[in-house]
Amino acid sequence: MQYKGNSIVKEGKAVQLDDGVYWVGALDPDLRSFDIILNTANGTSYNSYLIEGSEGYALIDTVKAEFADDFFARLESVTDYSKIKAIVLNHLEPDHTGALPELLKRAPQARVYISQRAQSMLKALLKDSSENLEFQVVNTGEQISLGDCTLTFLSTPFLHWPDTQCTYLEEREILFSGDVFGCHFCDGRLFNDKVGDFRFSFDYYYAHIMRPFKKWVLEALDLIDPLDLRIIAPTHGPILRDRPRRYVNHYRELASNSLSGELGTNEKSMIVFYMSSYGNTARMAEAISVGAGSISGVRVSMFDLQGGETEPFVDLIEEADALILGSPTINGDAVKPIWDLLSSLIVVDLKGKVGAAFGSFGWSGEAVRMIEDRLRGLKLRVPQQGLRVKLIPNDEELEDCYNFGKDIASILIGKKKECKVLEFGEL
Ligand SMILES: Cc1cc2nc3c(=O)[nH]c(=O)nc-3n(C[C@H](O)[C@H](O)[C@H](O)COP(=O)(O)O)c2cc1C
Ligand SMILES: [Fe+2]
Ligand SMILES: [Fe+2]
Repeated sequence: MQYKGNSIVKEGKAVQLDDGVYWVGALDPDLRSFDIILNTANGTSYNSYLIEGSEGYALIDTVKAEFADDFFARLESVTDYSKIKAIVLNHLEPDHTGALPELLKRAPQARVYISQRAQSMLKALLKDSSENLEFQVVNTGEQISLGDCTLTFLSTPFLHWPDTQCTYLEEREILFSGDVFGCHFCDGRLFNDKVGDFRFSFDYYYAHIMRPFKKWVLEALDLIDPLDLRIIAPTHGPILRDRPRRYVNHYRELASNSLSGELGTNEKSMIVFYMSSYGNTARMAEAISVGAGSISGVRVSMFDLQGGETEPFVDLIEEADALILGSPTINGDAVKPIWDLLSSLIVVDLKGKVGAAFGSFGWSGEAVRMIEDRLRGLKLRVPQQGLRVKLIPNDEELEDCYNFGKDIASILIGKKKECKVLEFGEL
């Protein structure tokens, strides 16, 4: 329980982070896995904030249900429930709304503020108890006043759910950013200039939670950039009060294409991955790559999955324009490294990239169609019927491979029309 050592977090007490602004969240140092997909080596925190205005209090987010007692005790150390005027929900995921049903009972007069997209989620979350709940939908630029302080809302959808928003406290220049700029890092010293080294956690969180939505990250940063920022107060991990702008800039770097400068301005990138036991699919891969490379404006890279590691390949695919996968059919399926690679792609946005499949087979040849189906499921465009060769490709079949690569490359640069590819069940 490392947070007990130098912790400024005390049981039943709020922590003041600025004039009239309090942390009333909870620490969860024993958590080792979050949302199934993230490892949390030193746990996490659920940060909730209370703002004191001359005309009442606003509460920003709550905590996970199991930590409701900690949260209520901290809240009660600052005010009583009757003075809470506003409950702002920046994000409805249960790690931030677990204590909400009970809070609504204790502070029935408080008005709830949520984003446009949060409405149906809030109803689904509260189910029957939401029937009489009144809430106000807010959009970018809308404000609420607590007398001597003002909250401005920024719509930042998909960071990390469709419902998410950020809330800016004008007079104190504090951004309550929800999961944005957050990380799973539990340290009772709370502030970024006091806690342990959390750089890994920050990037790791971005990579798993924000990365699939990088387009939305950049849109959110456009809203955040013009703000004067003294403190960024996210829902997980350290409160960023020491040079918070660094984290905004770092997000922009993370969300920008880092490799694109390697290619010419109008050059498209195609990546061919394959696996091969007897070299048949490998020969196809080679011919496809040469064919694709014959089209100027397309840069082709080819990799044998057997000699690679998934993580750097995911980085490459994120910035590629076309992804071509080759697998032999083994026991009626594509081989495992292909599926492993495909299942690792959940962290990147693949929508609209061109996809295609090919492979050698012995008698039934299911692999190619199965890969194509998965590529479509991942929202890639599959404009060209996949290419299968029975056993060892001969010269004519290698010529087909060459043309297959050439066709996809031509489609990629808009020089050839896409053909309709049959759905899996239609073959
Ligand atoms: C263990 C094993 C299982 C196989 N299962 C299938 C199968 O279910 N359907 C099929 O069409 N071919 C099957 N094959 C044949 C391969 O797909 C075929 O040999 C192919 O040419 C191998 O290509 P490669 O050299 O690129 O690995 C199987 C081969 C092996 C060794
Ligand atoms: Fe979340
Ligand atoms: Fe969260």
